[in-house]
Amino acid sequence: MQESNFIIFSGSASGKLAAHMARLLEQSTGRCTVERFPDGEINVHLDEPVRGRDVYLVQSTCAPVNDHLVELLALADACRRSSALSITAVVPYFGYARSDTRHSQRAPIAASMVASVMQSIGITHIVTVDLHAAQMEGFFHIPVDSLTAVPALVHAVRGHLPEEVAVVSPDEGRFKMASEYARWLDAPVAVIHKSRQSGTTTRVAKLVGDVKDRPCLIIDDMIATGGTIADAVTALLRGGARPQIYVAATHGLFVGEARAKLSHSAIRGIFVTDSITQSHPDWSALNVVHLAPLLAAALRRFRADESLADLYNHCIHNGSE
Ligand code: R5P
Repeated sequence: MQESNFIIFSGSASGKLAAHMARLLEQSTGRCTVERFPDGEINVHLDEPVRGRDVYLVQSTCAPVNDHLVELLALADACRRSSALSITAVVPYFGYARSDTRHSQRAPIAASMVASVMQSIGITHIVTVDLHAAQMEGFFHIPVDSLTAVPALVHAVRGHLPEEVAVVSPDEGRFKMASEYARWLDAPVAVIHKSRQSGTTTRVAKLVGDVKDRPCLIIDDMIATGGTIADAVTALLRGGARPQIYVAATHGLFVGEARAKLSHSAIRGIFVTDSITQSHPDWSALNVVHLAPLLAAALRRFRADESLADLYNHCIHNGSE
């Protein structure tokens, strides 16, 4: 796809992913400079013209979340002030998406706040992957395409799974996603009722579904501290599941002691995407699925004003287009 009226820039969180996407689209990423002043402020400069061009800014707002967010906003502001025709923020991992309701009085809805800032800065289209809560789209009045990595993760994990696997949702919130996995894998679903005590600790209450003597695939949208998955593993083993457990999650944040929590002998493989750049060369259980084929395929369809309806057919059969 050689076209000069669009350009892909990458923020510092998503350099490899953006370069991979651009390669698949037979482009190179646009040159831009991101610098940090000694006081912590961020400055960006577009080293190529964007006047009259459709711009795609690829940046996951992962840790350090606020820095990556401000960098994305600064890039978008630079594009708007330089007369870009449109500004699409490709945010494979959308930070603050978990803060989508008020958990108490006198509390913010951070996801709504981020959406407002993105729009006011001139972003005209959001593309993201497995948004924590679909209703977050309602915080935007611009188009939001929330893609899913489930077919690509299914394609990657399928060959590793033993017969009779059960798909497990680690909480009620992921039941719909677990059902999607189960549909692709033709497997039964179980769900764990999880209650959260704080941002870092959870308490498992009960397991619903038949996992006895079955290997299990625990799915989630993200792994942060690893607490949810570790609790799910404990609940499954107590419930009689075989100590053959696989994990698939779209976003691997792996904060704090996550890796230690996930180094359980029953966990045979962990599959995440590169929505967040992974650098664990010595973690043999970790498998990373590339998102670039999905994002590049979506971008091709945006360029041609085509529907995304058949976007996943290719992923499930070939892993990429
Ligand atoms: C919760 O609603 C999410 O879907 C994840 O289950 C959660 O954010 C994972 O966090 P952690 O790994 O810290 O338990």
